Amino acid sequence: MQTRRIGDVQVGAIGLGGMPMSIEGRPDEQRSIAAIHAALDAGVTLIDTADAYHRDANEVGHNETLIARALAGYGGDTSDVLVATKGGHLRPGDGSWTLNGSPEYLKNACDASLERLGVEAIGLYQFHRPDPKVPYAESVGAIRDLLDAGKIRFAGISNANPDQIRQADQILGGRLVSVQNQFSPAFRSSEPELELCAEMDIAFLPWSPLGGISHAGDLGSRFAVFAEVAREYGVSPQQVSLAWMLAKAPVVIPIPGSSRPETIRDSVGAVDLKLSPEELSRLDAA
Ligand SMILES: NC(=O)c1ccc[n+]([C@@H]2O[C@H](COP(=O)([O-])OP(=O)(O)OC[C@H]3O[C@@H](n4cnc5c(N)ncnc54)[C@H](OP(=O)(O)O)[C@@H]3O)[C@@H](O)[C@H]2O)c1
Repeated sequence: MQTRRIGDVQVGAIGLGGMPMSIEGRPDEQRSIAAIHAALDAGVTLIDTADAYHRDANEVGHNETLIARALAGYGGDTSDVLVATKGGHLRPGDGSWTLNGSPEYLKNACDASLERLGVEAIGLYQFHRPDPKVPYAESVGAIRDLLDAGKIRFAGISNANPDQIRQADQILGGRLVSVQNQFSPAFRSSEPELELCAEMDIAFLPWSPLGGISHAGDLGSRFAVFAEVAREYGVSPQQVSLAWMLAKAPVVIPIPGSSRPETIRDSVGAVDLKLSPEELSRLDAA
């Protein structure tokens, strides 16, 4: 697969989002492992997860454990796979998402993720979401300390605005490698962050790039132009969505969630779909 850069490593230009395999509505483990293996077979080398991707309160890190198990059980070489996890969000088990951005919490969460992933250093560790109760500089300072201690190889942030992106890069001493924000045909308000990442030459990872777990399937019926372009090429509207965002800047690396082999295989096809400038402007205007 065509690759793009995170820090000083190249990863497949389409990554895999692990959330649908671990939260409410998740499939059995066998199907999730098959989806991860299909992604690896297709050349995916970036897998996005988080300690908070779980359903019940007593299974924190469900998705990290699942990914570690899938990688260990894969027949081929996985040495070039970058697992990107996150800390700072919690799920008490009632379906809600809460926050803790305190340095002490983040450092402990990172240690727990290291253990679940079974690695000496986490590939990419992302501060999941700013916590209004904790100064942003303190939370990002904890990520800097983890980087300095060698517990994480690369540092990223998520759900950040342009000021926070600049601030984080400064606190990290110019070592911020990625920003993960929501971006899809239905949610375009992260364009300024995408453009800033392109300017700063750091990776921009669109989350819920198909509109989210409950809306990904009906992308074509909600966005007629995406369906029209998809018909012209004989591909899915989801592939068109991913190709459209890949064309926005060379720093963009979408992480579509999948829990079935066929959906991640279809998404990977987006790297070979080259849309014309005229099609891209129609999609921009949709
Ligand atoms: N940083 C954050 O705050 C944050 C927030 C949300 C998500 N994320 C990350 O971003 C990833 C992606 O977001 P998401 O999972 O919420 O939503 P999404 O990627 O927009 O949609 C995921 C759903 O799309 C379906 N799908 C995937 N590829 C498809 C294709 N080619 N054709 C048709 N359907 C397709 C999958 O179905 P099947 O399950 O049936 O395969 C999956 O359930 C997450 O998995 C997670 O890693 C991060």
